[in-house]
Amino acid sequence: MTNLRDSTVLVTGASSGIGKAICSRLLDEGANVLGVTRRPSSLDPEVSPIEADLAKREDVSGIFRDLGKIDALVNCAGVAYLSRIIDGNPADWEEMWRVNVMALSLCCQLSLRHFPSTGGRIVNISSMSGHRVPPTGGFYAPTKFAVKAVSDALRLELKAAGLPVQISCVSPGFVDTPLLEQYFLGREESLAKTREAMKMLEPGDIARAVMTILQSPPHVEIGDILMRSGEQRM
Ligand SMILES: NC(=O)c1ccc[n+]([C@@H]2O[C@H](COP(=O)([O-])OP(=O)(O)OC[C@H]3O[C@@H](n4cnc5c(N)ncnc54)[C@H](OP(=O)(O)O)[C@@H]3O)[C@@H](O)[C@H]2O)c1
Repeated sequence: MTNLRDSTVLVTGASSGIGKAICSRLLDEGANVLGVTRRPSSLDPEVSPIEADLAKREDVSGIFRDLGKIDALVNCAGVAYLSRIIDGNPADWEEMWRVNVMALSLCCQLSLRHFPSTGGRIVNISSMSGHRVPPTGGFYAPTKFAVKAVSDALRLELKAAGLPVQISCVSPGFVDTPLLEQYFLGREESLAKTREAMKMLEPGDIARAVMTILQSPPHVEIGDILMRSGEQRM
């Protein structure tokens, strides 16, 4: 098992939900955690803040400008608007594309020169909506399919280049976080029914999966973890 004590892990989406839970587990293991957010005051006080708006390419580049060595990157930031293809607001699509796909991809690229020559790990948080399109998924699902494709492409490129950085994707079903308020905006009854119908995953469940990846022995690359509540139908 890889010991995370004194390792340095960069986490986007560190201020809320799944990312916050990941930071907390990393701190428990003695890691130094750098957390990217637009709201530094929302971070756990033990997390070192990096303020950036991931929808802005110059902010994404800024994260890496004075960054030292890191051992792992967890791309967790994400936006989920309910925005259908037939009548959704393209501004919502654009923000989701910028944060969920462009920022994640650029963070992957820019992180590579910060890993030690012995290797590193990148964990990208996708979604079950990146593996099957839910009926109301709208433009969110395409962004999560893209996360899976970016991760697979990057893994192949790294192996071809002989670079020892491992790429993993974690794809959860419903997780009870503030993101659901955004996803169900205007459909609050539907969110209440969904909560009633199932015990959703908790942020800590996803953090546990991420820790399994990060703590695996160096020769073990976990490609994908798909996980849903035992009570979620698909
Ligand atoms: N909740 C679910 O049911 C679910 C299911 C599957 C996958 N996921 C994925 O899991 C990841 C985390 O979601 P969550 O449920 O934990 O959501 P959350 O509680 O709403 O947290 C979203 C995080 O993303 C960050 N973020 C959003 N836009 C940003 C921007 N422009 N610049 C910088 N940071 C930004 C937020 O940071 P600030 O606002 O502080 O900047 C926040 O830390 C997302 O990628 C999401 O797609 C969630």
